[in-house]
Amino acid sequence: MENPTSIETFIFQLKSSLQQDNFVKLSLGNYRGDEHELKQIQVRLILVKRELKLNFTHRFRRRDLVKNLDIETGVAQVESYLKHGFYAATLFTTNNDFYWTRNQSGQERLQVKTASIKQQPSLAHDKEKHRLIKPGANKSYLHELRITDATGQVYKNAQDKFKQINHYIELLRPLIQDIGKENLKKVVDMGSGKGYLTFALYDYLYNVLGLKEVEVTGVEFREDLVSLCNRIAQQAAFPLLKFQQGAIVEYDEPNMDMLVALHACDTATDDAIYQGIKAGAKLIVVAPCCHKQVRRQMERAVMTAEIQPITRFGIFLERQAEMLTDALRTLFLEYYGYKTKVLEFISDAHTPKNVLIVASKTSSIPAERRKQILSQINQTKAFFGLEKHYLESLLQLEN
Ligand SMILES: C[S@@+](CC[C@H](N)C(=O)[O-])C[C@H]1O[C@@H](n2cnc3c(N)ncnc32)[C@H](O)[C@@H]1O
Repeated sequence: MENPTSIETFIFQLKSSLQQDNFVKLSLGNYRGDEHELKQIQVRLILVKRELKLNFTHRFRRRDLVKNLDIETGVAQVESYLKHGFYAATLFTTNNDFYWTRNQSGQERLQVKTASIKQQPSLAHDKEKHRLIKPGANKSYLHELRITDATGQVYKNAQDKFKQINHYIELLRPLIQDIGKENLKKVVDMGSGKGYLTFALYDYLYNVLGLKEVEVTGVEFREDLVSLCNRIAQQAAFPLLKFQQGAIVEYDEPNMDMLVALHACDTATDDAIYQGIKAGAKLIVVAPCCHKQVRRQMERAVMTAEIQPITRFGIFLERQAEMLTDALRTLFLEYYGYKTKVLEFISDAHTPKNVLIVASKTSSIPAERRKQILSQINQTKAFFGLEKHYLESLLQLEN
């Protein structure tokens, strides 16, 4: 290929800065074209309805004209302006400033200088600027998982998934801070599925927190998903991210520091909590999925008059069973010395499965407090006519 022209190099730098998320702004000046009274154009990046756009402010002598263009069209527009009408342009990125000029006789010049602005401006209405997992052409796993295209742009139909991934990392961030990142050596994601969240967590730990020694393992029933995820992890050059085929309850890892299980079906969440408790994990984070085990027992039970108004309707019974299942899970965790809290995983009107149970290991729990918790577990079970919670059987909790 012949040497690129200075315009081609300038456009290449513009595209790279947008892909690598270090674009600050661009200005076009010294206009000598046909547009009456046009003096200069300022270009910045903005978010419109969660889509990145290039915002062009055309400065005329007495007025401004603003246009938002999608990235590809916007870049093409800048290229056209450089070829026709403008004689100067400056691209500001957080790495370098690029000054392009053309003189009277048509000779072009491109100068590269150290960046005069080291920080990107925040996008209007944008929280995503501060997202912990950033898309980019260098994130092959996001592309392989069909979240972004090859250039690192998030697909329109994957915006919600991408938001969910970031929300999940945002929720985990303070929890990881609390236990201390230096205490994180081994993380297990139970029921990892297609691995969206496992990859994002590894990316966060490895690249953002710089934990180069941390091991993350996804445990998953489905062989096809395990092979797929292992291939993507290898491609992404994530050295200590592995996926292992198997049942959660059979996974044997005595040294895990953090366990996550997101939307592992029905009692698989209990299997995961059990494994976390057994290993003495410092942090257990589960987002329960469907709940069947407790509901079946509630359906069979004869309810007292006080609870009947709730349990006589199928929908109420289901919601009550879910709450009961998860409330008992928190009590079991507390019994084994965990401090628990319940958060909303992601606000989503379409799924009620948005509860996150977070349990952090405390140093010890007094015997008296254990007795109280056990008594509370028994009373709650009796009130709802529950014989046994599946997790209780796994833990072989004597009551
Ligand atoms: C609903 S998906 C959730 C995937 C992922 N955690 C997420 O939130 O995107 C649940 C996954 O857990 C797996 N799974 C369910 N029960 C399991 C078990 N007992 N052992 C291993 N994997 C299990 C399923 O095969 C499925 O891929």
